[in-house]
Amino acid sequence: MFSLKDKVAVVTGASQGIGRETALALAEAGAKVVVAARNEEKLAALVQEIAGKGGEAFAVKLDVADAEQTKAAFKTILEKFGRVDILVNNAAITRDGLAMRMKADDWDAVLRTNLTGAHLCIQQVLPGMMKARAGRIINMASVVARMGNAGQANYVAAKAGLIGLTKAIAIEIASRNITVNAVAPGFIETPMTDFLSDKVKEELKTRIPLGRMGSGRDVAAAIVFLASDEACYITGHVLDVNGGMYLA
Ligand SMILES: NC(=O)c1ccc[n+]([C@@H]2O[C@H](COP(=O)([O-])OP(=O)(O)OC[C@H]3O[C@@H](n4cnc5c(N)ncnc54)[C@H](OP(=O)(O)O)[C@@H]3O)[C@@H](O)[C@H]2O)c1
Repeated sequence: MFSLKDKVAVVTGASQGIGRETALALAEAGAKVVVAARNEEKLAALVQEIAGKGGEAFAVKLDVADAEQTKAAFKTILEKFGRVDILVNNAAITRDGLAMRMKADDWDAVLRTNLTGAHLCIQQVLPGMMKARAGRIINMASVVARMGNAGQANYVAAKAGLIGLTKAIAIEIASRNITVNAVAPGFIETPMTDFLSDKVKEELKTRIPLGRMGSGRDVAAAIVFLASDEACYITGHVLDVNGGMYLA
């Protein structure tokens, strides 16, 4: 079950954290994985690590906030592999601040990277997936899209937007046998949450029924499932991976 043998997967934001774990897990399941992000050094190290474990990976420098670069990156990917079977829109940033004082640049950068970036990547893979009448698109949302979070109006709006995008496109392309789903992680141990003090982390854990922060691998496992043939009858769904911290 859950073999992705010979599937071509693209993971954005694969240079660290959940994206990196997702790339490793997809490769472990047999997929050829294109790892995309801005930091080429980290991508090169990941490609080596996957190759060292007997998998196949290919690095592409990509800033999803840049429409032209995104088009060029997918052109390179399609020239090399001929198709994309699985797209994981994982790249994201935070620029936290109270809404009242939020700078326009911080609002724009987060919406552009976290929401528009996913839309641009989806546009690049859809023609091929529609022709193939097959495909898996998985968008990385967040628990905060459902519960809100003070100081993150831009990030929460982008993540809630991603859930809407997931549902709209799921309906648009269902007739072509392409599924579109979202994964909504809770609090996961990655560089994005590293800045939280031990005190805050301990406090957060008291709000998580399973009693711990999640790992990148916990989230990656959900993505491998949604990417698999076995998940063929699931579309437009938001899969919570949050230790029970928010039961939607
Ligand atoms: N950690 C959590 O608790 C948590 C909870 C809920 C949801 N999430 C979501 O899970 C995903 C991964 O989060 P994470 O915790 O692993 O974050 P992270 O450690 O900060 O990693 C974010 C990744 O996104 C990439 N990225 C950022 N801007 C990019 C851009 N413009 N173009 C391409 N790549 C870009 C970064 O790579 P480069 O800097 O090399 O480009 C990095 O690889 C995100 O969508 C995040 O919102 C995380």
